Parts: sequence; C-alpha cells; structure tokens
Amino acid sequence: MKKGEKVIFGGVALLVVGGVIVNAFKASHFDPEQGRIPFYTTASPELRAAGEKLIKDLECRKCHAMWTIRDPMQAVPAPPLDGLGSLKDETWFYTYFSAPDPQAILPSRLKAEYRMPSFAHMPETERRTLAAYMATLKVEDWYLEETRNREFEKLTGKSLNGESGE
Ligand code: HEC
Repeated sequence: MKKGEKVIFGGVALLVVGGVIVNAFKASHFDPEQGRIPFYTTASPELRAAGEKLIKDLECRKCHAMWTIRDPMQAVPAPPLDGLGSLKDETWFYTYFSAPDPQAILPSRLKAEYRMPSFAHMPETERRTLAAYMATLKVEDWYLEETRNREFEKLTGKSLNGESGE
C-alpha cells in the first residue's frame, strides 16, 4: 500500500469509527428505530382523561391522527394533533375552537367536508378543557428539530444547520 493510500484508508476508518460513536451517542438519547414515540403530554391525569374523552366523543380522530394513530377507514389529510402544544398555545387553541369560521384563522385548500369544523357551539367549559389539553401535547425537541430540518431541506435542497444530511 502506498503512503497516500494508507492516509486515505486511515481517514475512512476514522470516519467509520466516528460514525459508530456518534450513532451510539444518539441512540442513548433517542431511538426512532425502536419505535419510541417522540410525543408526550404534560397534562395532569384529570386533564388528560377529560381531554381524551372530548376527543373521543367529538370524533376528532375521524380526521386527525393522535398518539400517531390514525383511523384507517378515513382519508382526510388533516394534520396530526400530536405535539401541537409545542407550536401553539392554549389561547390560540381556544380561539380556534371557538371560531365560527376556523378557516378564517387557518385557511384550507381542502374540500369543504374535510375541513376543520367549527366547535363554537360547544359549551365554553369543554372548549377550554380541549384547548388546555391540546396545549399539553408536546413533542421532544430533537424530533421537532429533525422535522424542521427535513422540511427545510425538502423546500430548499439545503441543510438548515450547515451539516451535511444523514
Ligand atoms: C372533518 C375532519 C375534522 C374533524 C372532525 C376535526 N378536524 Fe381538526 N382539522 C381538520 C383539518 C383538515 C385541519 C387543517 C385546517 C383545515 O383544512 O381546515 C384541522 C386543523 C386542526 C387544528 C390546527 C392544526 C394546526 O396545525 O395548527 C387543530 C388544533 C385541530 N384541528 C383540532 C381538532 C380537534 C381537537 C378536533 C375534535 C374536537 C378536530 N380537530 C376535529 C379536520 C378535522
């Protein structure tokens, strides 16, 4: 082996070992391959129970995935509810659920029957409970970061933080 080749081989070996170490480090913090869900709630058991009951009774899952599970019988392209509390606050949710025309707040390009319905007719206490619960639906920072980067790369073809892709 020539000297130059040795340097190159050594460099490659270092990269491989480095990669293994970095991956091991990452794995100790999170492991999407192991199926760990990056979503969690900070709600008290009472709020969680009340929120989940409303979501069930009002059939939000007909359109939205929640805890990454989507109704397989439905094909509404609504955003998942998981982690939304990391992006929006309780007041926003309350205003949105109380709006007679939710599309005035969040415009929709979907067919009318797929759009977010108004829940303005619901009792105020239920809208408040729902908003409070939604605000506790968080997403782990690493996942939010990864998603942001992925979207950014998709849109621009560039890496957000200057690192080369996976
Ligand atoms: C008929 C389908 C449908 C039902 C039922 C429905 N939604 Fe939606 N929802 C949507 C769609 C679609 C959007 C995206 C905005 C749009 O297209 O109107 C949306 C948007 C939202 C948003 C804003 C998401 C964001 O990215 O900011 C929240 C929060 C939300 N829905 C919560 C709920 C809750 C809670 C329920 C049950 C009480 C519910 N939705 C029931 C279809 C639905």
